[in-house]
Amino acid sequence: MTQDELKQAVARAAVEYVPTGIIGVGTGSTANFFIDELAKVKHRIDGAVASSEATAQRLKGHGIPVLDLNAAGELEVYVDGADEITEHLHMIKGGGGALTREKIVAACSKKFVCIADASKLVGVLGKFPLPVEVIPMARSYVAREMVRLGGHPVVRQGYVTDNGNIILDVHGLTILNPVELETRINQITGVVTNGIFAVRPADVLLLGSPEGVRTLAG
Ligand code: A5P
Repeated sequence: MTQDELKQAVARAAVEYVPTGIIGVGTGSTANFFIDELAKVKHRIDGAVASSEATAQRLKGHGIPVLDLNAAGELEVYVDGADEITEHLHMIKGGGGALTREKIVAACSKKFVCIADASKLVGVLGKFPLPVEVIPMARSYVAREMVRLGGHPVVRQGYVTDNGNIILDVHGLTILNPVELETRINQITGVVTNGIFAVRPADVLLLGSPEGVRTLAG
């Protein structure tokens, strides 16, 4: 099976978790497969809250109403991919740059269903460079602070987030305590948020492998 076929399989499995009402939808190639599957059952939902402009466009393209989070209130379910995930369902996200809105929609959701192919499962987070969204004028300061934490920050070239900020991709971290590091980085002045999702981890992981879709629950 190709990686895309694995992504498609977990996207299909995630449809089982689609409630009636409003659903939160993530960003990235796996989330895109989910949106395509969601379109087939769109009669079941009132609409979706999108974690990025790209996701909003794809949802609208399928005729799925895109709703404002402030009007939607608490969501039953949020479905999204991950760049890395552990068996504790801690994640690195933000490879696509949408980490802040993803974290906001996840925070507003009762259940986070992560969909990923088996290549995303790791023992320790950090091989994937950690995305950190930063207010542009704080770029150098935050970069210096990340070096103090043992990382090697690289500015994502030519990229501006949906919120008008920059991304520092921080290489070389071995994240042994994701909750602590997530909290610590978020306390650096100028950081909007970082791509560790551990304070609010996933609740369910649907992991695609050639043997089938495995379900891990937190
Ligand atoms: C988007 O900002 C990310 O958090 C994605 O959820 C993550 O990068 C996974 O993307 P893929 O499904 O494309 O691997």
